[in-house]
Amino acid sequence: MIFVLGATGKVGRHLVPALLDAGAAVRALTRDPAKARIDPRADVVRGDLGTSDLPALLDGADRVFVLTQGHSADREAAVAQSAAQAGVTHLVKLSTTGVHFGQTDPVTRAHAEAEQAIREAGPAWTILRPGAFMDNRFAWLGPIRGENAVYVPDTDPPSALVHVRDIAAVATLALTTSGHAGATYELTGGEALTTAQQVAILAEALGRPLKYVEEPESAAKDRMIRMYGWPAKAVDGLFALKCESAPHESVVFDTVERLLGRPPLTFATWARENTAAFAYHYQE
Ligand SMILES: NC(=O)c1ccc[n+]([C@@H]2O[C@H](COP(=O)([O-])OP(=O)(O)OC[C@H]3O[C@@H](n4cnc5c(N)ncnc54)[C@H](OP(=O)(O)O)[C@@H]3O)[C@@H](O)[C@H]2O)c1
Repeated sequence: MIFVLGATGKVGRHLVPALLDAGAAVRALTRDPAKARIDPRADVVRGDLGTSDLPALLDGADRVFVLTQGHSADREAAVAQSAAQAGVTHLVKLSTTGVHFGQTDPVTRAHAEAEQAIREAGPAWTILRPGAFMDNRFAWLGPIRGENAVYVPDTDPPSALVHVRDIAAVATLALTTSGHAGATYELTGGEALTTAQQVAILAEALGRPLKYVEEPESAAKDRMIRMYGWPAKAVDGLFALKCESAPHESVVFDTVERLLGRPPLTFATWARENTAAFAYHYQE
């Protein structure tokens, strides 16, 4: 049985059905099964990695997909150690390309430490290091729905955004087929696109022009605090990460194509899949 952490998240919600389709038995973790819409073929368990009894959650698991939110290396180390004690044979951890590039922002440092804990825990391991997700562009939902506009920090670099389904497909391979123990895979999309190009692709999929506005970092930070209600500290942390990852975001890795035997999913595909979400509520 494969135990999936983050089963309701951006990668996890694609990973669970992909594993089930591959014939695996899946236990899916969520803090709130009533709210979670998890594939009914999975065994859904309630648990909180901060408070639940890890040995009980891991009991009977053979392999574990390790994803945590909040970037706590200690939390992932605790999962890895409990997994080893529970007889888990393989851990597949979701990390970030930032570790490959030696970034020192807090998010990347936590992933680097967690990777180390996973490697040292005992079970076989595979590390997946994706770059920025196409799903991050859901941050544009509010202004597109409300004003038919996209505001981006003028420092945002071209980015080889990766589709979360490609990450889930690679995770499925690593969890269900042999030959991935001890491997570290950097995962990106197939081409680096500027934010202006991304907005043009999204506009084409939506069938209407979008206003594209570049704004200075201070205005972009204020917008995030105002629009999303994020704490200023979280926004500063995000910009620290963006600043460090900017020179690397355009690097394209061929890993997805090498492993899956097909080109990575494109931003145009992602845009077409999500047109309904970006529906226009703007009234002149
Ligand atoms: N976005 C990017 O561009 C990018 C790029 C590279 C790497 N990453 C990495 O991807 C990882 C996750 O991404 P995300 O932040 O977007 O989150 P996400 O995977 O979309 O969602 C978070 C998941 O974690 C679960 N979760 C949160 N707190 C939990 C807890 N205390 N106990 C158990 N489960 C808990 C949630 O489940 P419930 O709410 O159902 O409990 C949910 O399934 C992070 O490690 C991030 O660094 C992201």
